Amino acid sequence: MSKLEISFKRSIAVLVIEDNQVDRRILHSMLTKTLTKDSVIKATDSLTTAENLLNEHTFDVVILDLNLPDSKGTKSLDYLNKKCPRTAIVINTGAYDEDLGIETLREGAQDFLVKGKYSSYILNKTLHYAIERKRLELELKEANRQLKETRNQLIQAEKLKVIGGLASGVAHEVRNPLATILYGVTFLSKQIKVDNPQYQLVLENIQEATNKANTIITDLLDFSSLSELKKELGNLNDVIEKALLLTNHEINKHNVQVVKNLSPVIPMLEFDKNRIEQVLINLFMNAIYAMSDCSQDASASEPMDKKITITTSAVKLSDDLKEIDLIYQKNFAPSQRVVSITVTDTGSGIPADKIDKIFDPFYTSRRARGGVGLGLSVCQNIMQIHNGCISIANGPSCGAVATLIFPI
Ligand SMILES: Nc1ncnc2c1ncn2[C@@H]1O[C@H](COP(=O)(O)OP(=O)(O)OP(=O)(O)O)[C@@H](O)[C@H]1O
Ligand SMILES: [Mg+2]
Repeated sequence: MSKLEISFKRSIAVLVIEDNQVDRRILHSMLTKTLTKDSVIKATDSLTTAENLLNEHTFDVVILDLNLPDSKGTKSLDYLNKKCPRTAIVINTGAYDEDLGIETLREGAQDFLVKGKYSSYILNKTLHYAIERKRLELELKEANRQLKETRNQLIQAEKLKVIGGLASGVAHEVRNPLATILYGVTFLSKQIKVDNPQYQLVLENIQEATNKANTIITDLLDFSSLSELKKELGNLNDVIEKALLLTNHEINKHNVQVVKNLSPVIPMLEFDKNRIEQVLINLFMNAIYAMSDCSQDASASEPMDKKITITTSAVKLSDDLKEIDLIYQKNFAPSQRVVSITVTDTGSGIPADKIDKIFDPFYTSRRARGGVGLGLSVCQNIMQIHNGCISIANGPSCGAVATLIFPI
């Protein structure tokens, strides 16, 4: 962290928000006397007029009276902290409001002055120290954010390394014997011509189990070998249609209604069609199962409305990337344009104590129903190597909403 170096000779930009004309004049004359010639000093008498000045200029420090005609108390402080989070705020309180001054320090002000009790020298010193404290606070916040991000990346990388190594080793070993079994069973089921249907049934069961094991092996290999991408220019709407076609059987079997809000104007992007199709199929299957499992479990006789809504749109991210999870933020720039896909269902949703686990490899709430728990971790890897983002949250009234975000 940088050391505290304060030069009172540095020019600064100050905004005074004070409705009392006398106090405002005193502050203005003290500031003109003590600050360097090229410093910027602006003064105004309400929060509304201050807003215009804050839109036009960047200030190092605001001197704020808490008793303004259009805003009282710490409300003004909250407003300024949101409006200009990088600006230091010094409160100018009345002689009987020292307690309030101290309270504002806890609410995010850098310092407070008590009217009538400060000299030009104290004022100058207070402003420079406040600016420096704000700078250090911002540095600390940024360091903390980076630390959290790095920690999350390390955890993720470590998990992937362990699972990846284990997965590819086991998968290669198991794949060949599985192929032999599958070949043998297929051969036998064609050869055996006995009247007893029991034989055919046993063979079919073996075939089904072997296929299932093969799918798990393929998932595991996918998990550890996602580096080979075949990226080409394409339209995400087309991939959605293809993934729907491939899941059509399950959609019909479970009586799920599909609603498509696909924007016709999303730009073409570079991505691996097969991989993104795989992500969408995983999301559709999760949604279908979440709706079918919960309608099976529900004791209510009312049949539930099973609906998947798929929406695509081209949008602009916010300045602070708040819509992107921390671990993906390095993939995006503030205000960047992106394409988003949301898959919303009307299923059970995810219990609050499980929501942090759903992307963990092998986490599944459906083990008894055949879930392996690799679907979402594969999706997460695929989105990560597309420099994109995947997140899942509960819907406002029911079900879950999965969001995929691709940088343009
Ligand atoms: N749309 C959803 N609604 C409710 N829960 C969900 C949804 N999507 C995922 N989940 C939860 O997240 C868990 C992990 O999902 P994931 O796709 O990784 O594994 P899975 O579906 O259980 O198994 P598989 O490996 O076969 O995909 C699910 O078991 C379920 O508990
Ligand atoms: Mg799944």
